[in-house]
Amino acid sequence: MDNSLGNSAMRNTSDYIRNMMFGLDALVELDNKKMVPAINLDNAATTPPFKEVVREIERQLMYYGSIGRGKGQKSEHSTEVYTNGREIVKDFVGANSDIYTAFYINNTTDGINKLASALIESPKDIVLSTRMEHHANDLPWRERTKTVYAKVDKNGRLIIDDVKRLLQMYNGRIKYVTVTAASNVTGYVNDVHYIARLAHQYGAKIIVDGAQIVAHRAFSMLGETPEENIDFFVFSAHKMYSPFGGGAVVGLTDVLNKHISHFYGGGMVESVCDYSVLFLPAPDRYEAGSPNYPGVVGMLKSMEILKHMGFDYIRKHEQVLLRRALDGLMKIPGVILYGDSINIDDRVGIAVFNIRDVKNEEVANFLAGYRAIAVRHAAFCAHSYVRRLTGVSEVQNHSKTLCYPPEGMVRISFGIYNNEADVDCFLAMINELLQHEHVRHFAKIRNESVQLTERSYKPYDRG
Ligand code: ALA
Repeated sequence: MDNSLGNSAMRNTSDYIRNMMFGLDALVELDNKKMVPAINLDNAATTPPFKEVVREIERQLMYYGSIGRGKGQKSEHSTEVYTNGREIVKDFVGANSDIYTAFYINNTTDGINKLASALIESPKDIVLSTRMEHHANDLPWRERTKTVYAKVDKNGRLIIDDVKRLLQMYNGRIKYVTVTAASNVTGYVNDVHYIARLAHQYGAKIIVDGAQIVAHRAFSMLGETPEENIDFFVFSAHKMYSPFGGGAVVGLTDVLNKHISHFYGGGMVESVCDYSVLFLPAPDRYEAGSPNYPGVVGMLKSMEILKHMGFDYIRKHEQVLLRRALDGLMKIPGVILYGDSINIDDRVGIAVFNIRDVKNEEVANFLAGYRAIAVRHAAFCAHSYVRRLTGVSEVQNHSKTLCYPPEGMVRISFGIYNNEADVDCFLAMINELLQHEHVRHFAKIRNESVQLTERSYKPYDRG
């Protein structure tokens, strides 16, 4: 798509893209029983499919047969689509080089667990993670080995100097640096190529959690110089308009071949003898069991569509929505915003906030019950990060019984099909909520029986 689109062309394109989505017109029931189309502002959790993705899956299922296991025309066709798809995946993440292999996974959590189980050889291996990670890029490491964490600043940005400090302090003993490309809480985009340079200087390899970047920014595993290359990149398809399961790990072929994940079964071996096993090289050794073919087909189609749209357009569109949402929220008394709301160039379209004296769950219930606006609330599987954003710097105790979840927040997150009307409707509903003083009063005294979704509210109708 044209990257230099003016405002009216941007609007036409936005309408065109809305029409590409499957299910946006489906009606859901409000608290007052009225049926309305939902507004999804929870794209960081999962995205609806493109219509063309649904159609492609249906087309390919006509010719579906077992992957890499059978004979027959359908099996051979499916195997070819599945196998050739690896190059499409590599191309999508700018890994057009023989040094990389792509293997399919169920989702990012699955991919990082597979990598952690493969790469960690001893509890003495040290991993450097950060305090802004999703649990999926924290627990698989810390449960296996010593994991140290780079800090975030007051606004929630990763402190790169702390990454440096830890690399210096452990002086060559950190084996892996694992970091998110974009936070699922604040949307901050990390300069992972610079972090790669630092990691490589100290003899570490870098793993990047790409779950929140792949549908929002162009991403290349190859940096400007080989020192800046990303060694492993992991992402899910369900956050990129193909919610049928699936995702991929793209990683260094030679390293993948030296290791094996702790996930065993058929399809990964050359030969099994009574007392020894000969494993196939990557990617097969990481894909035991029959694969999720529809998930792969959907993901490949999504990649084609996103590439065609162009990430310049996607980025610009989502930045406009984020700016509008933040500007609107900043004007509403009682709204507490987290993260940097002024400089947002390094944020994908995600915002987190609270409303003074109202529980985050109640805000989410209200938005859903009164205008079918879907958001996520609580701590977004990133408890350490959310604690810090709310001003709790370190949890000093090591006792499991004293390990409480943090106070949460409300999160909105945009996809390519959201538009300014979605943002305005959301802001109107937040204003609506705050106009009802008694709601705030009852929420304040934490009377659990008082519901913000009380029937006396009029659902906001944006026509
Ligand atoms: N990781 C997803 C989220 O942040 C599920 O909502």
